[in-house]
Amino acid sequence: MTTTYRNFIGGQWIAPSTGAYFENRNPADQHDLIGLFPASGAADVDAAVDSARRGFERWKRTPAPARGDILRRVGDLLAARKEELADIMTREMGKPLAETRGDVQEGIDTAYYAATEGRRLFGHTVPSELANKWAMSMRRPIGVCGLITPFNFPLAIPTWKAFPALLCGNSVILKPAEDVPHTSTVLVEILLEAGLPPEVIQLVHGMGEVVGKALVEHAQVPVISFTGSTETGRFVGETCGRMHKRLSLEMGGKNAQIVLDDADLDLALDGVLWGAFGTTGQRCTATSRLVLQDGIHDAFVARLAARAEKLVLGDGRKAGTDVGPLVNQAALEKVQRYMGIAEAQGATLVCGGERATGGALDEGFFFKPTIFTGVTAGSRLDQEEIFGPVLSVIRVKTAEEAFAVNNGVRYGLSSSVYTRNVNVAFRALQELDNGITYVNAPTIGAEAHLPFGGVKETGNGHREGGWEVYEFYSETKVGYVDYSGSLQRAQIDNY
Ligand code: UN1
Repeated sequence: MTTTYRNFIGGQWIAPSTGAYFENRNPADQHDLIGLFPASGAADVDAAVDSARRGFERWKRTPAPARGDILRRVGDLLAARKEELADIMTREMGKPLAETRGDVQEGIDTAYYAATEGRRLFGHTVPSELANKWAMSMRRPIGVCGLITPFNFPLAIPTWKAFPALLCGNSVILKPAEDVPHTSTVLVEILLEAGLPPEVIQLVHGMGEVVGKALVEHAQVPVISFTGSTETGRFVGETCGRMHKRLSLEMGGKNAQIVLDDADLDLALDGVLWGAFGTTGQRCTATSRLVLQDGIHDAFVARLAARAEKLVLGDGRKAGTDVGPLVNQAALEKVQRYMGIAEAQGATLVCGGERATGGALDEGFFFKPTIFTGVTAGSRLDQEEIFGPVLSVIRVKTAEEAFAVNNGVRYGLSSSVYTRNVNVAFRALQELDNGITYVNAPTIGAEAHLPFGGVKETGNGHREGGWEVYEFYSETKVGYVDYSGSLQRAQIDNY
């Protein structure tokens, strides 16, 4: 029996106005149908916005520490259901259970951080220029937040956005990626079980071009947070700019791991295998470029290829699997297209380069971990985000040249440098144009309590995670209290 899932709108689980549904299938096994999910329309978004506006009126008056208490219970429930959630996620998007457990852990950490933030949400109190007058700033909620999230962190990324938005007193409409609707359904169930008032959260499933678009274009949704491709982000940004919306964008990456001649090569090898092929390369922080200094290039590539060929591809729910499938047919076709591009550009295929087949692999979207050497700076393999298990190796002579290669792309999310030279390491922190730089660690693995985001075309200046995200989801208001009993004129009576 196929399960048919619903949207959560107006405090109820309801069918979409369109009456239409889409299938959600396991990318490791296309015969495994997870369920049918609503292919909602713009009318469902309208209903969600009406409800979220009512929810906001109530929630914004709930004291922030009480809002935090609910998020603490959310963290407790996520922890209690960690295994179940990990299994749900692996089944719908493919990455191995160790990784989906980590995904839940990011959600738990984000919940507990938000819970404590309910007792901070600091404003400032500063001296006034005038006597007998107070001057202070405080944080206020904004309204309905539209959150559009990707498939690769089906739980963590919705929590990065929803928990701080809720803690700040906003109501939320969540539109998850169509590849991972089940995980967000369970997340909303957990929010409700923890005591979140129903109209404070809405879940609207469906296609980005319909539901995401309606949300971005809705006049009563003043805040949009989007994680996805730079191309879609451009449309979102144009619309939000025209409508004067507050917008947080987290988009593409072309992240480099730099390995210099003096590096601990065993460590660098473990780092690049995890950074490039973890999550099947489907992270915006994934290592998609390996920048190797001349002296170690050939030996390092040989060792890397030997290790990459040994990675076990398969169903992420089976013990022993290192690398799961790509998320869907379109992702597989995109990676396959880049094999032709690499060949045309004269790169040398070292390993992989094709679909992994045979036995159970035939049922899913598996692609072999792939490495190209001889990639030149400025070529398409150096410049374009592939979002798959494809690593481009670029040879350089010096650390300075490596830094220039790192910086020579339109993206700027994450970077990594392996060296034993402390001076070079600190220079890298200063010179690399990224939101995050790791020293002697891979490009992936950002921690939930630090600001996360990138420069250039990766983002638009905002950060998720850590303390900064609370500024995005709240508005600064300033209060002046003059208790002098007389008219005091700022900038005039004090000098
Ligand atoms: C993403 O791919 O959009 O730093 C987020 C990391 C993870 C988050 C990745 N914590 O790799």
